[in-house]
Amino acid sequence: MTAMSSRHLSYGFVVLSCILVAAARTVTPEVASITNYGSVLDQLNRDSCSSSRWTPNVVLWTCRDSQTFQPDGNPVDPSIANTASFSSLPSSPRNPQNLTLSPPQNVGQLFYKLEADECPPLGLCGDSRWVGWPDTGPVVTSTGVLGAVNAYAFIARQQLSGLAVVQTDGYSLYRVTSAHAGPQLPTTKVEVSAFWSRTEIGYGSAGSVLHNGYAYLYGATPNRKLAVARAKLGLFGRLEDKKAYEYWVNGAWTRNAPLLNDTSIVLENTSAIQGTIYWSPKWESFVWIGGDFFPNANFYVSTSPKAEGPWTPAQLFYSGAVGNGSLPAYSAIAHPSLTDGTGNYIFLTWTKTRPAPNGADLYDTPLVRVDWK
Ligand SMILES: *[C@@H]1O[C@H](CO)[C@@H](O)[C@H](O)[C@H]1NC(C)=O
Ligand SMILES: *[C@@H]1O[C@H](CO)[C@@H](O)[C@H](O)[C@H]1NC(C)=O
Ligand SMILES: *[C@@H]1O[C@H](CO)[C@@H](O)[C@H](O)[C@H]1NC(C)=O
Ligand SMILES: *[C@@H]1O[C@H](CO)[C@@H](O)[C@H](O)[C@H]1NC(C)=O
Repeated sequence: MTAMSSRHLSYGFVVLSCILVAAARTVTPEVASITNYGSVLDQLNRDSCSSSRWTPNVVLWTCRDSQTFQPDGNPVDPSIANTASFSSLPSSPRNPQNLTLSPPQNVGQLFYKLEADECPPLGLCGDSRWVGWPDTGPVVTSTGVLGAVNAYAFIARQQLSGLAVVQTDGYSLYRVTSAHAGPQLPTTKVEVSAFWSRTEIGYGSAGSVLHNGYAYLYGATPNRKLAVARAKLGLFGRLEDKKAYEYWVNGAWTRNAPLLNDTSIVLENTSAIQGTIYWSPKWESFVWIGGDFFPNANFYVSTSPKAEGPWTPAQLFYSGAVGNGSLPAYSAIAHPSLTDGTGNYIFLTWTKTRPAPNGADLYDTPLVRVDWK
């Protein structure tokens, strides 16, 4: 459209968009009902499970520390830093049934394998540990008719001592693919090691959402807020090419990746305490759902008409039960992958712990459905 011929139209459009933005900004999520689905049924002891819709009826779950059980009920050490499983979609809230995670194919191996310089296979180096811990499910960027799926995960190259960070040596880009539908879990491969360097934000590691032809990729800033990049989705949804990326810096999209200590990339009113971001048609808004400080199961919600903000201050809307293990509860995670995509409701899980006979933590993953007013 040229400016002259469309002055009326654009004026109308500007007014309309202002009204839409204003309407979207005033979204105040209110809970209509909560339905308890028990805990997910899992043959493994594992924590911090997030999920992605893999095919129309199949959900891919990716979890952190995973263990099998000994006959005495104690979990087997050492734990595997990440595993994956499939599930179906949950039953209707009129008849809530336990959701079952299918067993992973090979419990001895990580779903996202550690790299050669991360003390593979289990990451154990003296008294430190490299953890390939996923914070969010892989972002599915393309699906084929016969169940072929192309997805990506951005995983921190992180070494811990206990829970203290020794180093975060960038973030690697893993490609996660299925050639066809079936019971086989997807295969993963390090596509680009240290795709984000140690001086860059780990875009895509904290959350991701597809909207209007872009993959919006969130990463944690040093002050535990979020920064965002976006990649225009081309053919087959490839995310390997940095030329497709733009970064939100100082209130504008730019082609140059900022340094992680650039304070102008911090999104106001966001939090990098583990969370999930999705698009809600109901609210015409991006939605962030996540927790606060460890250890509890408090869930907060924040909304924004655009991926980059302005985000509303996060509101507490649900507090899950905590356990009696050493870390009573953590990892407040939302599962848009378990919904019909309307935004009318959301599923939540968290990790709730109780002591094994030997005092080690046993993990439960409670599942609840929240319907919004
Ligand atoms: C889920 O399974 C447990 C037993 O494993 C049972 O106690 C609970 O009632 C079930 N919950 C639902 C919603 O079916
Ligand atoms: C930001 O990080 C860069 C590279 O690590 C460093 O050279 C610079 O001094 C840092 N700036 C601030 C303000 O800390
Ligand atoms: C962030 O939240 C505060 C209230 O805590 C609000 O005044 C401010 O406008 C919010 N910022 C944005 C960008 O929405
Ligand atoms: C912890 O809670 C579980 C129920 O989840 C209960 O069976 C167990 O007795 C409790 N253990 C302790 C030490 O309080």
